Formats: sequence, C-alpha cells, structure tokens
Amino acid sequence: MNKQALINTAQALVADDKGLLAMDESIPTCNKRLAKLGISQNEDARRVWRELIVSTSGLGEYISGAILHDETVHQRKKDGTPIIKALTDVGIIPGIKADGGAHDMAGHSGEKITEGLDGLRARLDEYVQLGVRFAKWRAVIALSEGIPSRACIKANAHALARYAALCQEAGLVPIVEPEVLMEGDHTLAQCFEVTEEVLHVVFNQLYTQGVMLEGVILKPNMVLPGLDCSIQETPDEVADATVTCLLRTVPAAVPGIAFLSGGQSGELASIRLNAMNQRFKSRLPWALTFSFARAIQQPAMGIWSGQDARVKAAQQALLQRARCNRAARRGEYSAAMEVASS
Ligand code: 13P
Repeated sequence: MNKQALINTAQALVADDKGLLAMDESIPTCNKRLAKLGISQNEDARRVWRELIVSTSGLGEYISGAILHDETVHQRKKDGTPIIKALTDVGIIPGIKADGGAHDMAGHSGEKITEGLDGLRARLDEYVQLGVRFAKWRAVIALSEGIPSRACIKANAHALARYAALCQEAGLVPIVEPEVLMEGDHTLAQCFEVTEEVLHVVFNQLYTQGVMLEGVILKPNMVLPGLDCSIQETPDEVADATVTCLLRTVPAAVPGIAFLSGGQSGELASIRLNAMNQRFKSRLPWALTFSFARAIQQPAMGIWSGQDARVKAAQQALLQRARCNRAARRGEYSAAMEVASS
C-alpha cells in the first residue's frame, strides 16, 4: 500500500474548497428519474445525461471528484472520448460506486445490508487500471420503531471497514458512507442518537480492520429531523447538532467529511452546509464539504428533460448548484446567490 499516494488523493478530494459530485445512481434509480421527466430509459439515455454533466464547462472549478457507476466508467462521449478522460482532462478525479446495493437483511424486517464484498478485490484492480482513484460504498440505516437494530449497524459497519481495507490495498481512497435515512417522523434528537452510535461503530470497525484514517473520506448524513416530523429545526440548529455529533465521533486524522444530500432540496442542502462552515469552520479538524447527487443534479435534469436544445441551460443550472455549494463550504453562501442566477 502506498500510504502517501492515498493521503495525497484524499487531500486532493477536499482541497481548494471544492466538493464531490455523486453521479453513480444505480440503473433502476437513474431510470426512475428519467421516467419522471418522460425521457426514455436505456443505456444511451443514461450516457447522454452523464455526458451533459461531465461536459459542463467550468465544473472543475467547484468539483474535485465525481463518483461514477460501473456502466459509466466504460462509456464514451459521443465524440469518442472516454468519460473518465473527459473528467481527468478538466482536473476532476474519477471515482466508482463499488458496492452491490442495499438488500433485505435476513431476520431483520425493514432493515438493509449492503452487499458486494465477494470478488471486490479483482473489481477494484480493474477500476484502478481504468484510471479510477477512489471508491464509494453506501450503507443505509433506517430509523423507526425498534429500528435500527444492533445487528444492522454492526453488519453494515463491518462491511464498510472490509471494503475500505480492500480499497486502500488497491490504492483507492475509500469514501465510507453510512447513511441514516431521512424518511420517517423521527425527531432530530433521535437522528442524532442513531448517527452518533453508527459513527462510533463504523470508526471502531475501521480501526479493527487497520484502515488508515488519513486516507479515508467520510460521507455521512446531516443530523436532521425526519421528513414527516412536525418540528423542523432551523439551519443553525441543524448545524449545531451535526457538528456536535461529528466532533464526538470522527477522529481528527480523517481529512474530510463530505455530506450526502439524502433528499433535501438543493437550496436547503447549501443553506445547512453553509451554516456549519460559517459557525464552526475555524474550529474543525477536518474539511466539511459536499458529495451530493440529487442536490446538485435535480434542477439541471428537470431543465434538460431530454431536450438537446436545453443542454446549455441545464449545464448552467448544474454549475449554479456546484458554485453555491463551494460558497457554502467557505461559509460564504447567501440567498442572493440564488436570486442572481434566476
Ligand atoms: P444524494 O445526495 O442524492 O443523497 O446522493 C448521495 C449519494 O451518493 C448516495 O449514495
């Protein structure tokens, strides 16, 4: 394992106030989003959408790394340029979704375990040959009556740590993503409690498996009330809770924490990330940045709606969300940035 190369990659992913763009939706999820807009759902439609993203001029000013799906790492732009090359040409580091998806967990109704460890070593080696430099593995933790169970948290944390160790052996920086879901009517306090426990168990497992924390990026949820909870805290309250939870659980050796958006609107995700950096940035041991999928892509996809004539407008919308999130990373985002662009 080349420790310094891993550290360099991890640091590059959080350098210059940039963040990550997740564009690794599974085929069914990507198809669902295309179908909502009346776009046909096939390999070429997914390629066209993802070509639109990677061809957005100026994206590399705000985005350090892009997480791709296995289908995309093998695809080319219409002009024949491999998608991976299109990214590296503009200084964006290519990454890969390495997990095999969240599946029903035996004996634990309503809970999921992420699969994909079998054969992972060989798959990671293939990705390295293609020029990929980091990977992502998402575990999902649902919150409801009697859930999550100890078994679900522990099994997912164990899988995350084994994946992370395999990544580092292959020379890839692991993005470790334990997502406590927003769905439900749970309170912010309940999300805090579960997120705190999950992160403790994840870092314990990373330690047990000998994962080098300087070469890891954590991708957690923000600490939020459930979508159906009647009390929705202010951005400052969310920032307080999230930063308190992370300070209690994430070792200072980790170079960066890049949040998932989890179904928040693009604006709300920027507002909350901004509140964290504005209030706490100078006191934090790690960078606090973004690794959003929906909160960056959704407005752009809606504008595009599969129409060639709207590609430029969609790319402007994508760039706008990327720009707002870099400002949020600096604690310099304001609502005026939204008005200026509309
Ligand atoms: P969202 O930002 O849409 O939650 O997606 C992030 C992600 O990569 C989930 O694995």
